Amino acid sequence: MLSTLIYRSRLSPGVTLPGLYQLADKARVNNASLEITGILLFDGDYFLQILEGPLSAVNTLFEHICEDPRHYHIVQLMRDYASARRFGNLGMELLDLRDHAQETVMQTVLQHGTSKYQLSYDDRVLKFIETFVTGGGRDDRPANDDARQWHLVSEARFQTADDTPSDSAPCQFAFQPIVEPLKRTISSLEALIRSPSGGPAQDYFASLPPEKLYEADLQSKYWALKQAKKMGIGRNKISLNLLPMSLVVVPDAVDILLDQIARNGLIPDQVIVEVTEDEVISRFDEFERAMRQLRCSGISLAIDDFGAGFAGLSLLSRFQPDKLKIDRSLITDIHHDGPKQAIVQAIITCCSAMEIGIVAEGVEKIEEWRWLEAAGIQRFQGYLFARPKLGGIAPVAWPYRRES
Ligand SMILES: Cc1cc2nc3c(=O)[nH]c(=O)nc-3n(C[C@H](O)[C@H](O)[C@H](O)COP(=O)(O)O)c2cc1C
Repeated sequence: MLSTLIYRSRLSPGVTLPGLYQLADKARVNNASLEITGILLFDGDYFLQILEGPLSAVNTLFEHICEDPRHYHIVQLMRDYASARRFGNLGMELLDLRDHAQETVMQTVLQHGTSKYQLSYDDRVLKFIETFVTGGGRDDRPANDDARQWHLVSEARFQTADDTPSDSAPCQFAFQPIVEPLKRTISSLEALIRSPSGGPAQDYFASLPPEKLYEADLQSKYWALKQAKKMGIGRNKISLNLLPMSLVVVPDAVDILLDQIARNGLIPDQVIVEVTEDEVISRFDEFERAMRQLRCSGISLAIDDFGAGFAGLSLLSRFQPDKLKIDRSLITDIHHDGPKQAIVQAIITCCSAMEIGIVAEGVEKIEEWRWLEAAGIQRFQGYLFARPKLGGIAPVAWPYRRES
């Protein structure tokens, strides 16, 4: 199967031009033995490389290339399949764009092409090349070396609560903070439901008779709020996950929730209800009524796992939550992934136009956080900062810039 991979990267300091031509000579020989062809464009700072060949050979070579210290800030832009090679004559050719006049450089690239049909202006590969040679698509966001300038320092902010669950509690809760790392503030605490023995949420829900599911879901929030109060959350915000149907199916659901909040000495303004997009869209009209009640009560609303399901942007055209939490599937390795970067960038633009706050979920690497922070996101949740802790709040790891 003939596959095509395009990535962009940046030349590491200290690598010379003769060194680059040597690299290309070796690459040409190596690629020929692997049946890989392509082109390496260089503009004096950035590379754009097209690799084409058998899928497994391209993947293995790309893994090698990613580890090469002669470049950094590697962002994969495209992976696709093709019926024919676009640069079939060459093992690999280095084309220094500075050797060509701007008006002729595209023509020069096209002359290296072997498939006139594939190198048409409708071709995505050619469009990536064109954007690159005309100086677009560069990314001046923090590069990989930026991550090394930061280190994390753990700090416990909340008293360790007595984590023995109450005998009468039907379930337990683990708490995970949502943080603003540069301000070193906790913006809210998410209460994640666990089974009575501390097992995953699915175990708890699976143990319930289906007709009791929504009622039990709603009732469980009392215990989350009680635990939060015990931990001394003060006026911090608390996020509760709710099946949207619990708000629809259980009569007076919002009143029950308000009562639970009041019984624990908290106020509605510090409570955020999180629902996932798929569940909302399946019974939207009913949910919308419940949502209006929530809003009128002062409780705010967040869409959880945004991007993981099917509702997506159309849901946002129908109603706008206070917060939107971008699913981890769009966050993992975003610093290396061009399509994820483009999608998250679009979500940021969209939410900013609607004044919807964004939280990036599932952040595990400093590089991910740095990319997202530079893109304009300020709130984060993930193992990088704090893991969920049963019956309590783990110390938060705050980032500090290393002193040079
Ligand atoms: C921008 C850039 C592009 C590269 N392209 C190729 C290539 O197309 N083929 C190749 O064999 N090596 C390429 N290399 C070099 C590889 O990273 C690596 O050095 C080479 O595959 C030899 O790997 P080895 O020393 O593990 O055998 C490239 C390096 C850089 C920095």
